[in-house]
Amino acid sequence: TFEVELRRTGVTLTVQPDRTLIDVVREAVPDLLSSCEEGFCGTCETKVLDGTPDHHDTILSARERESGRTMMICVGRSRSRRLVLDL
Ligand code: FES
Repeated sequence: TFEVELRRTGVTLTVQPDRTLIDVVREAVPDLLSSCEEGFCGTCETKVLDGTPDHHDTILSARERESGRTMMICVGRSRSRRLVLDL
């Protein structure tokens, strides 16, 4: 379980282990774009403002992954208790 803050939207949501991050984000941002939802198309790429993403995609480079500044929220989760996204 971790918290996700959507900074521009101004809400903080809780992501339980049985939910995907993108599903929870959609509760606050219904028009969020996605396509594959399997971590390979790049449509759901989202800027990370704070926290440490737990990457599960197959599209980011090792360098991007390490930077922790961007993530695919359809499959990604969080290693930190709180993740802050630019949404
Ligand atoms: Fe395709 Fe997330 S929707 S990478």
